[in-house]
Amino acid sequence: MVNFSPSILSADFSRLKEEIESVKDAKYLHLDIMDGRFVPNITYGPMVIEAIRPYSEQIFDTHLMIVEPEKYIEDFAKAGSDIITVHVEATDHVHRAIQMIKANGCKAGVTLNPATSLSTIENIIDDVDLILIMSVNPGFGGQNFIPQMLDKVKKLNQMIQKSKTETLIEIDGGINFNNIKEIVDAGVDIVVSGSAIFKGIPQENLNKFRKILEG
Ligand code: DX5
Ligand code: ZN
Repeated sequence: MVNFSPSILSADFSRLKEEIESVKDAKYLHLDIMDGRFVPNITYGPMVIEAIRPYSEQIFDTHLMIVEPEKYIEDFAKAGSDIITVHVEATDHVHRAIQMIKANGCKAGVTLNPATSLSTIENIIDDVDLILIMSVNPGFGGQNFIPQMLDKVKKLNQMIQKSKTETLIEIDGGINFNNIKEIVDAGVDIVVSGSAIFKGIPQENLNKFRKILEG
């Protein structure tokens, strides 16, 4: 079964608590951390995660779009993250970063920009809990889904099946009511969605996604 990870990047930050409560029946909550260096945008840090932690029982799915992620893994774990995902392009030592995430008591994820080959994770597929396929270039909400990423998801599924791991596949960027069906059919476990959920009434949008998937 597919689960949703609403991204608060597109939420109204002046009413963050209410926005989070409106998507509380999604299993995950996606937290986009941007540093203005790895991506051309800046968002928020561990302080915000710590502040919202008491208002949600969801699995906090922290997506680090920052250079030298090792420096901040402990802070994001302490703030209340359950999963921490690092970009393979953001560190020379992905394996070390994964070990650090686990040592800090979190599930470890790795993520790949659209142009990054799946071969970059071939040797660590058994070590991670989650692989996040970026279906837009990271940095902003509301961009268009890159269709070639469907094939990437299918190939990743084959790699996971071969290695017999339980690794989850997550997809992030440009998912909307028109493309959700084929994306889920390609074989993903977690769907991130920012603008499609938070534009309008979040709870209704989540239900609309679920209805489309039910057929
Ligand atoms: C983009 C972020 C996404 C973003 C998705 O860099 O990683 O999580 O919030 O937003 P939508 O769903 O609007 O593409
Ligand atoms: Zn994200």
